Amino acid sequence: MSKKRRHSQSRDGTASSVLSAALLAAVQERFELDWHGVHGIHHWRRVRENGLRIARATGANVRVVELFSHVYDVCRENEGGDPGHGRRAAAYVEELRAAELVRLSEEETGLLVEACTYHSNGRTRGEVTVLTCWDADRLDLGRVGIRPDPKCLCTAAAREARVLAWAWERRVRPG
Ligand SMILES: [Fe+2]
Repeated sequence: MSKKRRHSQSRDGTASSVLSAALLAAVQERFELDWHGVHGIHHWRRVRENGLRIARATGANVRVVELFSHVYDVCRENEGGDPGHGRRAAAYVEELRAAELVRLSEEETGLLVEACTYHSNGRTRGEVTVLTCWDADRLDLGRVGIRPDPKCLCTAAAREARVLAWAWERRVRPG
């Protein structure tokens, strides 16, 4: 067994209809960096929690938000800028669909691909599910010592003081 602990559900015990054990095994196999590093599994789990929380206010498609959290950084080749990793993640989404590990409608797939492709470009405008995905990621900047700038967040839900404080308090907690 590698240092990557196999997992079939999120640490909070919430079974997900989209994050299947088979999908989680696939992304674990695909990920080349430190599983417990700043772009690894604990970050993804916090991003999922962030996304689900703000989705309650934004009305985002939670299937897309959950899948985003566990695919958008999977194809990173380094822990730095890695400008191509969003596009690689988008292509990976298509691979996962072909393998039937991701089952989404065409519309949902389009949202997930857009969210992955542009997640690190600093954009703040777009469809609400896409914006919720980006904010879920940005709310976890505290893990690297950066307080998210409300001006760089896309949704009013993520800019709420209590949400920012909640995300900051959880910034280095294992996800
Ligand atoms: Fe990223």
